[in-house]
Amino acid sequence: MEYINIALTKGRLAVKTFELFERIGITFEDYNPGSRKLIFTSKEHKIRAVFVKAGDVPIYVEKGAADIGVAGKDAIMEAESNLYEIMDLGFGKCKFSVAALKDYEFKAGRKMRVATKYPRVAKNYFKQKGEPIEIIKLSGSVELAPLMGLSDVIVDIVESGKTLKENGLVVIEDICDISARLIINKVSFKTKSEKVERIILDLKGLIGGKEVS
Ligand code: PRP
Repeated sequence: MEYINIALTKGRLAVKTFELFERIGITFEDYNPGSRKLIFTSKEHKIRAVFVKAGDVPIYVEKGAADIGVAGKDAIMEAESNLYEIMDLGFGKCKFSVAALKDYEFKAGRKMRVATKYPRVAKNYFKQKGEPIEIIKLSGSVELAPLMGLSDVIVDIVESGKTLKENGLVVIEDICDISARLIINKVSFKTKSEKVERIILDLKGLIGGKEVS
């Protein structure tokens, strides 16, 4: 029987995902949270779990390198990949927000500069609001951009709000809620359907099968 590949991300999402799989009877014998390995196997169920960067999970699934993925809604929105988003797994909760310095006031007459690790999310959000912007794509430490005069606002993930607070920024608008989602490759959904469907049904049975948005 063919193996099923699941792409996920190291760290908290992986720990939560492995917990879920354990509860539906799937354990990866060679997994331990301290390991530097990137592939773990359940020989019994013929399932492999592979660790990829958070933003890369959707592309692994879209291209079929992985049949299933566990990805943050943030990564899914940014990737705009062609795949099925099956269910909300209920963990990894945070939100996308627009934030700025406390005393920030936008001066009309030029485009607002938006620093972000998520250029598509930011572009789509302001486009839908009809506001022209200039995107400044950064790789991290986005909160610095308004402090250093690089941007007017940021679009970023807010979880506890600690990073914003400690850098003197405040949320000016919320964009949407984020959580971990189960995503499936469109071809695998058909060709490996029995096994993939079993996993989906078991997970839905376990956590109530929340509708995704
Ligand atoms: C993320 C995000 C914020 C922070 C939000 O950054 O981009 O900076 O976490 O979390 P909080 O609201 O709980 O403070 P990450 O830790 O991924 O680091 P990075 O900025 O280097 O990408």
